[in-house]
Order: sequence, then C-alpha cells, then structure tokens
Amino acid sequence: MRKVQLTETVLRDANQSLMATRLPYKDYEGILADMDKAGYYSIECWGGATFDSCLRYLGEDPWERLRNLRKNLPNSRLQMLLRGQNLLGYKHYHDDVVEKFIELSIKNGIDIIRIFDALNDFRNLETALSATMKYATPKTIASGCISYTQSPVHTVDKYIEMCKELKRMGFQTICLKDMAGTMSPYEAEHLIKGIKDAVGDMPLILHTHCTTGMAYMTITKAVEAGIDVVDTATSCFSGGTSQPATETMYYAFQQYGIDCGLDEETINKVNDFFKPIKQKYVDNGQLNPKSLATDSQALVYKVPGGMLSNMIANLTDMKAMDKFDAALAEIPNVRADLGYPPLVTPLSQMVGNQAVTNVLVGERYKNISKEVKNYIKGEYGTAPAPISDELLKKVLGDESPVDCRIEDQKRTGEDFDAAKDALGDLARSEEDIMSYICYPDQTVKFLKDRKAKEENEAVYTIEEM
Ligand code: CO
Repeated sequence: MRKVQLTETVLRDANQSLMATRLPYKDYEGILADMDKAGYYSIECWGGATFDSCLRYLGEDPWERLRNLRKNLPNSRLQMLLRGQNLLGYKHYHDDVVEKFIELSIKNGIDIIRIFDALNDFRNLETALSATMKYATPKTIASGCISYTQSPVHTVDKYIEMCKELKRMGFQTICLKDMAGTMSPYEAEHLIKGIKDAVGDMPLILHTHCTTGMAYMTITKAVEAGIDVVDTATSCFSGGTSQPATETMYYAFQQYGIDCGLDEETINKVNDFFKPIKQKYVDNGQLNPKSLATDSQALVYKVPGGMLSNMIANLTDMKAMDKFDAALAEIPNVRADLGYPPLVTPLSQMVGNQAVTNVLVGERYKNISKEVKNYIKGEYGTAPAPISDELLKKVLGDESPVDCRIEDQKRTGEDFDAAKDALGDLARSEEDIMSYICYPDQTVKFLKDRKAKEENEAVYTIEEM
C-alpha cells in the first residue's frame, strides 16, 4: 500500500501564520497525550517564530516549553524549523553559537531539525548540519530545506541540482518549502517527478500554504508525482495563510488507498479540542478572519501574504497609501535587480522596504538600507542570479563582494562566554545564555521577571508557614 505521511503544524506554522505565533503552551497542553497517539509523521512544534514569541509576548521560557512538549509527546517526532546560520533570529551567528544551539535543541527534545537558508546558499547550512550529526540521537533527522520561489533562474533543473547537493552534504530528507503558497499543481508535478528521478531514495517533503488557494490541487499532483510527506494543520487551524487540513487530506487519501498512518478518531478529537481555542482568538481579535481567506494577488506579484499586509501597514502609517500600486509594481523590479532572492524572512522585508523607499523618494536606489547594502556586499550569501551592475557599483565602488561565508571572514556572532558574563546570576543554564544571544533585550526582561516572581513566591511561602 502506498504511504504518504502527514506532519501536523498547528503548534508552530499554523498558529504562526494565522495568529502571529501567539498560542501559549498552556492552551494546548491538554491535547498532547492524544496528539502523541495520532500517528503523524512528526509534530512541528518549535523553532520558527515560536522562540521569539515565547520570550517577547507570552512570558514563556522557550526551552521549558520544549521540555514540556518532549515529556507529553514521548512517542512522537518533535520537529523544529531553523534558519541555518541565522538560527531563529535575523542575523548570522558564529559557528560555535550555532553548534551550541543545536546541541541544546537536541538535548531538550528535538528530533527533526528542518534547516533552510533564505537564499538557498547551502554554505549557510553546513554548520547546523554538522552539529546535528555530532549531537544526533538514533531518532534525530537532519532535513535539508529549499526555499521555493519562481523566477527566470529558478528552473526545475536548478532545483534538482539543489536536491543532489543536499543529498551529497548528508541530509537525510529533503523539504520543499513553498512559503508564499505560489507553487502550482503543474509546477509540483514537474518538480517532484524530476527530484524523485534524481534522488528518489531520499524522503521528499512538501510544505506549502493555502494563501493563494492552490495548495490542495498542488498536493494532489505532488502525491501523484511521489511525494512522501506533506505538512497539514488540524482543520480548524487550516486554510488561508496556514496549511491544508489534516482530516480532509486523510479522507481524500483513504479513497486512493493511500495509508497516512493516522487514527481517524484521534485526529477528529484533536480538531474538536482546538475549535474553542480558535474561537477565543477570533473573538479577542488576535486571529483576523482575513488571514483565513484566499488571496490570489500573490500569484501575480509573487509576494507572500504577510509581506503585503506589512507594506499596507507601513504605507498607511506614512499616509502614503496612494503609492501602494506603484510600490507593488516596483517589487518585481527590485527583486530582479537583487538577483531574484526568494521572498522569505529576512529578504521579504528587505525587498519590500526598498521598493517602498524607491517609490516614496521618487528616485530608484537614492536611499539604500543598511541590510540591502550588506546583502549586495554578499554578507547573506550568494544571490541566485547576478545583482545588477548599477547596484554593485553604487554600493561596492571598486571593491568585490564577499566570496566566502561571512563567518570565515570576520567574527560576527556573540561570544558564549561574554554573554554568560553579561547575564551574571540572572542566567541559570546554558539555555538561558542561548536565549540571551538570540534575543538579548527580551531575555533580560524575561529573566528579571522570572527572578522577581520567584522572590515574591518565596516571601509568600514564608508568611504562610
Ligand atoms: Co510555512
């Protein structure tokens, strides 16, 4: 019997996409024992924006969340998303920080580390991969992930070459990450057939979003073409900017005689559990029903949904919404000038802001942001296609762009020992120090709050006695 397994994303990407990752651990603790018996390929539950959200908005220690997930999901594969050398932040960290982060992630309970780089510059995956191998348990899987996008240089052949490279590097599975939900059924069919022919013995995973309305069709074609694993979300947290629905996929697969290993009763129970939780966030406004609708604009402009809403918010702030159409039309031009980077964090923000600036200033590239300058210098990695000569000249003058990983040229990341000294007795573990390296301000605030809370509790306990 043909087997296609499903990864449940409600604990990470589904709530990240629909409600800005604001789902607290306590909300879903009560369903973990059932989720552990559902039969998913894996449960995506950590990494991405969860780490930042825990510290910044939810007052949670992300590492403690991970240990609790591990304790309550003893039989499941716990999966995280990692931005390669950027870890879970927005800048490049030094190799020893990356290695320590991976060591602690595995130690606290992660099984599958899905590693990607915004530019698909796989040099930025090397350290994370070798650290994963170094600290691997028998359950650990290093999954190499490709940021999917469309452009004149992103051909089927190019993606096949990328997959061969990920295999050669030593990744155990390959994931195609279609963050904007713009992969069409036709593209999925040709891409996945091509990849399966080239690296057929490696499990292939499709991660897409319903944003543009194509995901169900795309997955149908992906399944026909031989995909092994698909990411889905429990149905009340599916659709719109999130993933397609787990139960719907189960139902459709059954009629094709495809075994996805799920227990029907359990996946329905999981959905029933999350329904009132979703309603709570719709009622309090954290889950905007707009994010549940289909938005086909992304197909025209190849711009992820989140990027559009960001642009609208910025232009509204500046009372310049009359420039929206011009800014939107400028995005593909900026992207072409920059060598067609995939529009995923942090490139989506950089390209979007530059397009807005070009239009508002009234002269293209009169102002160039620091981030875009660093990108042009090669500090993020190699662009998929050559950057325009005009821009290279403007930013670099007669210098050449960086031709190696930025870590090999200069030490950019924080030092673990320096961070330890900076925190003093606020830090009680290596995990605290790592949180500080990733998000210093939020972590200091979190650790101070933790200390104050404990001191209050101690006073209270003594008085009670
Ligand atoms: Co996603």
